[in-house]
Amino acid sequence: MLRDAERDVIARLWRRKLEQDERDIPQAQRHRNLEPPSAEFLCALAAGTGAKRILEIGGSSGISTIALAAAAQQTGGRLTSIEIEPLRQAESRETLRTLALDAFVDYVCGDAAQALPGIDELDFAFVDCEKEDYIRFFEMLRMAPGGLVVADNIVSHKLTEYVAHVRQRPGIESITLEIGKGLELTRFCAETTRSE
Ligand SMILES: C[S@@+](CC[C@H](N)C(=O)[O-])C[C@H]1O[C@@H](n2cnc3c(N)ncnc32)[C@H](O)[C@@H]1O
Repeated sequence: MLRDAERDVIARLWRRKLEQDERDIPQAQRHRNLEPPSAEFLCALAAGTGAKRILEIGGSSGISTIALAAAAQQTGGRLTSIEIEPLRQAESRETLRTLALDAFVDYVCGDAAQALPGIDELDFAFVDCEKEDYIRFFEMLRMAPGGLVVADNIVSHKLTEYVAHVRQRPGIESITLEIGKGLELTRFCAETTRSE
């Protein structure tokens, strides 16, 4: 679970996003952030499953980064946070520093398409970048048996193609959760030694 200090910062970032939306400033200047309930869920899920090797694609100014770094702190793991916009990532770094969570994050500034081939096996991945890249980046992830992939904006952006794509893969279980803008939770089934 998140701590109160982390929830407070997430609430502040979320208020700023809502104010920017109301002022109708150009889309390119607005902060695009994850809903606080989704952040709470990500932290609880990653920490609760003991995920140690955690990745996010599209960290932006840091709501999901706070959630996943807090999970990494709790599991003794590390978060790799990939973000293509240097200014957004610089803000995230500063925010995480004030929460003393920066020690649990390896920041990568650049295009995930270039970074992903260098990323080792993962226990947990969060996908929150441009929607047209979801399938391509999902296919580039190296997930451990039992690993989890969460993708945002599934309901808000009607990402039916992504959902169909992940669900047709053998050895996968996947469900859409009505949290925030809709999260697709996908599990790479663990190899089983049970004889049935
Ligand atoms: C919806 S925002 C992410 C919000 C963030 N997860 C949060 O919790 O506030 C999407 C982010 O993905 C980044 N992005 C888009 N394409 C990318 C790519 N190919 N590689 C890395 N980051 C990318 C954008 O710059 C943007 O900051």
